[in-house]
Amino acid sequence: MKQEILRLLKEEKGYVSGQALCDRFQVSRTAVWKAVRQLEEEGYVIEAVRNRGYRLTGCPDRLTEEELGAAIRGWAGRSICYREETESTNDLAKKLAAEGCPEGTLVTADYQSAGKGRRGRAWSSPKGEAVYMSLVLRPDLPPASASMVTLVGAMAVTAAVGRETGLSCQIKWPNDVVSGGRKVCGILTEMSAELDCIHYIVMGMGINTGQREFPEELREKATSLLLECGRPVNRCRLAAAVLEEFEGLYARFLEDGDLRGLAAEYNSRLAGLGREVRILDPAGAYTGVSRGIDEEGGLLVEMDGGDTRRVVSGEVSVRGLYGYV
Ligand code: BTN
Repeated sequence: MKQEILRLLKEEKGYVSGQALCDRFQVSRTAVWKAVRQLEEEGYVIEAVRNRGYRLTGCPDRLTEEELGAAIRGWAGRSICYREETESTNDLAKKLAAEGCPEGTLVTADYQSAGKGRRGRAWSSPKGEAVYMSLVLRPDLPPASASMVTLVGAMAVTAAVGRETGLSCQIKWPNDVVSGGRKVCGILTEMSAELDCIHYIVMGMGINTGQREFPEELREKATSLLLECGRPVNRCRLAAAVLEEFEGLYARFLEDGDLRGLAAEYNSRLAGLGREVRILDPAGAYTGVSRGIDEEGGLLVEMDGGDTRRVVSGEVSVRGLYGYV
């Protein structure tokens, strides 16, 4: 009934009388009042005026089915599983995917108690200050193509952040989204596959929207959209914009089966393009000039003497010569 009342208040815009709600749901005034109190506890602002009824004047910025679902028009996010708290949205999405949930299912959370980053690292996930979301995909592609999806995700985040904030972010190869030389978004893509077919991919994004400060160890490397653009960013609108941008880019990626149609756009956002970068390869670090990605997402690095090396994701990191980006 609580959700029904909310829907009615949203549709109505003006006041809805308490009696009308009682009649509609065949419940007492106390039951209506209790549902309204619950909505207020969730962050909805509801005016109650004697002889007029209830009026909705504010909605919380939460990535719930109710709020985010209303902002989504496409297939990505058509089914939303929201948790106020979960260990990791990627882990929950993988569980749902293994149980057979449809492509486009989105898991969101307000807080992750064990957020995961790439290479087994933890992902700092403070409550209410970021977007944590994981999208289930089921592409008909060979497993070797899965890593390219992450680059498509980074492009989508960059475009959506531009749309929602006006910031012009860059991509630090392969998939960190950076602003002012610091990271605002990380993407962790996980997959279940057989040798020749993908069962599912889970693409998890952590976008720092509202942090005013970061733990000591992240301070040099991380930033938030709030810090970058100086005003709060609505998480729901941003998440919906990311999903919408992703749908368009992903369709182009699937059409080609690789990044040939997107590489130029990706490279126009690539941090360090045409500059010297340091490749931190466990087999030995080296320096060269970044020439951008090829159609499979490998980074082309021109060495002294003119040879080109192709860097593939995995254990390798790329750094600018004077810092993280
Ligand atoms: C990175 O190391 O850059 C990747 C970070 C990915 C973090 C996101 S937050 C939502 C999803 N759930 C997780 O546990 N991780 C990803």
